[in-house]
Amino acid sequence: MIKLLSVVGARPQFIKAGAVRRALERWNRTAPEGQRVEEILVHTGQHYDDNMSAVFFEELQLPRPAYNLGVGSDTHGRQTGRMLAALEDVLVQEKPDLVLVYGDTNSTLAGVLAAVKLHIPTAHVEAGLRSFNRSMPEEINRVVADELSQILFCPTAAAVENLRREGILDETAEESVEDVFRARRVVQVGDVMADSILYHEKIADQKSHILKKLGLTDSAQSKRYVLLTLHRAENVDDPDRLKQILDAMRKIGASGLRVVFPIHPRTRKRMESFGLPAFGPEGGSAWPNVQVVDPVGYLDMLALEKHAFAVVTDSGGVQKEAFLLRVPCVTVRGETEWVETVALGWNRVTGAEPEKILEAVQSLMDWRGPTAPFGDNESGKQTDPNPYGTGHAADRIIAFLADLFPPRFRS
Ligand code: UD1
Ligand code: UDP
Repeated sequence: MIKLLSVVGARPQFIKAGAVRRALERWNRTAPEGQRVEEILVHTGQHYDDNMSAVFFEELQLPRPAYNLGVGSDTHGRQTGRMLAALEDVLVQEKPDLVLVYGDTNSTLAGVLAAVKLHIPTAHVEAGLRSFNRSMPEEINRVVADELSQILFCPTAAAVENLRREGILDETAEESVEDVFRARRVVQVGDVMADSILYHEKIADQKSHILKKLGLTDSAQSKRYVLLTLHRAENVDDPDRLKQILDAMRKIGASGLRVVFPIHPRTRKRMESFGLPAFGPEGGSAWPNVQVVDPVGYLDMLALEKHAFAVVTDSGGVQKEAFLLRVPCVTVRGETEWVETVALGWNRVTGAEPEKILEAVQSLMDWRGPTAPFGDNESGKQTDPNPYGTGHAADRIIAFLADLFPPRFRS
């Protein structure tokens, strides 16, 4: 058996790891014994509320993690430091052939650092993404994870190109395990979140009752709400920026278009501390037509995204899901890593200025399709209609790893 150890900790990582787990189970059903893959799942405990963690394990049928390090929330240094110390103990005990890390959170950073210091090879899923904005904590985490990992599984051609530019892609490397630990390997596999949405879209149609629960099913409401998510530090830790975005959303609400806002715990806490409570005294929403709800599970989120008039977000995963569901997206950031969504005309990056957010949402009122809603943007620069693959990224990851470890190299 090849022994992988996957490190997860934050909401989007459970979704990514779920796709890889399904592919691993598929692989093991038909692989010869020596090529089967065992996975030890380690949860750092970065996210811990039931609606930020447990719900995803249930819905995605992820096994209970073999280890939950229980690190919880803290400053970047203290949180990452605690993860690092605890992961080191787990790695020393488990001696995996390879550590798999996902995305760009502090759990990703700790996973890579712990492994590399113990000379355990690391593979980074969702490698090569860049915002080119180093004030974002995620950008630092990505740059370090890509620099230190031996295997870089890229979701897109643009991600591969970023790694080429940084000199991480070594085109002379041979496809052998000896070389992989000397020269890094960059492989474009597609996006595991796209795998996940393709697999779960119909399941969400059948199992989610969120539209009914929130009163969004009657025909008058259908496609008449904007789905809002916010959690980036640059937006929610800055009271002025947060107020600007919320102001725009209040105006959208006042114009008659409902806003549904599953609120990230970070954002809720910041709003409270800035004197902008999300919930009114009776527990209901603080503003007319803006419906603030606790974070929802993955299936409910897919249902909310699919039926929205538009999505307004600063989330990476939500931008991509909106694109894959062909729902217009307005990104309240200064840039995006998911450049394909913009180039294909489904995403507009507005920053936090209320006028720009409002203008983008209002421009959708007259849009009827089938052409992309923001087609004026950069269309023509991106021609591949499936830049995130066709649902087999995780299968490619598992096949690549199984192939890479011939029996003589296994522990
Ligand atoms: C983290 C990731 C971010 C990712 C996001 C996904 C880093 C640096 N950031 O941001 O890249 O996009 O997860 O959602 O790793 N909290 C709770 N309950 C929880 C989890 C968090 O109340 O279960 C609150 C705590 O007050 C905590 C705050 O949210 O201090 C922020 O949590 P943290 O994990 O540090 O960062 P996120 O903003 O969630
Ligand atoms: N998500 C969810 N419930 C919510 C908000 C988001 O299930 O209330 C899902 C969303 O569908 C996507 C992922 O969480 O799959 C995105 O995570 P998040 O926005 O927290 O982080 P990011 O992708 O920006 O790192």
